[in-house]
Amino acid sequence: MSGGWNYTIGVYGKPGSGKSTAALRRLLDLRAEARKLPGWRRAPYLFVFEGDGDFPRRGRDGLRLSFVHDHGSIAACEARLAQTADGIHVVRPRLDEVYCSICESPGRGLGRECSACGAQSERLDGGLAVALLAVRAARLSRGYAVCYFDEIAFVPGAKNGGQFSGWFSSRQAVRRHDRVAWVYSTQCASWPHPDLRKLTNEFRLLRMDDAMDARALRLSSVPPEVLDAQARLQYFEQLVYRK
Ligand SMILES: Nc1ncnc2c1ncn2[C@@H]1O[C@H](COP(=O)(O)OP(=O)(O)O)[C@@H](O)[C@H]1O
Ligand SMILES: [Mg+2]
Ligand SMILES: [Zn+2]
Repeated sequence: MSGGWNYTIGVYGKPGSGKSTAALRRLLDLRAEARKLPGWRRAPYLFVFEGDGDFPRRGRDGLRLSFVHDHGSIAACEARLAQTADGIHVVRPRLDEVYCSICESPGRGLGRECSACGAQSERLDGGLAVALLAVRAARLSRGYAVCYFDEIAFVPGAKNGGQFSGWFSSRQAVRRHDRVAWVYSTQCASWPHPDLRKLTNEFRLLRMDDAMDARALRLSSVPPEVLDAQARLQYFEQLVYRK
């Protein structure tokens, strides 16, 4: 049973408003929640695609968080996972780490048939390569995973202005069955692809003071009274709207 594990969480706030820190806390809450769900066997996997973002590595006391692990490649992260699932895995995939969206084999080049399965599949790299890591970790462990994109602007298949990844939209469609919770942050409310905004069922709103942001959030079904309350937030304050 994984019916309750149905999350696409957007963290919206201007630069420095506390998005990454709020996301870190939410990841730890989701971990605690997954441990209460029926059928969990091991620690839920927590992944972060950092892009050029800035995920917190230090706590309020300035000390390095011992449970945040940095990986300069998908391969390095997988090697670590072979030892332990514990902690938050912050991954910066290498440019050559590319996967086929159909057979999930590595090494598919751009615009070619997959050499492994022969399909004209989608090329998964960068943030979507980390997303694939999360989907596979949940599947192989028959447990739960969380994938957080720190700054959605660095994920071409999920940001506005481009084509929404067919593979990612299908993962969104079956997210409960995949047992993967999706989290993203954004400085501008219009940067996530409109389809991703539509699928977002938890908005964590931090300070934003531009009318364009309020407009994009209103179009994503955030009610006016919530937006009025958001307009009064100070830095690091947040409110949550679930739809
Ligand atoms: N609740 C908070 N109280 C005090 N400082 C905070 C809080 N949340 C974040 N910070 C600090 O503010 C800075 C920006 O936070 P961060 O989460 O990186 O924001 P963003 O991701 O929106 O740019 C960081 O130095 C962080 O440690
Ligand atoms: Mg940040
Ligand atoms: Zn393939």
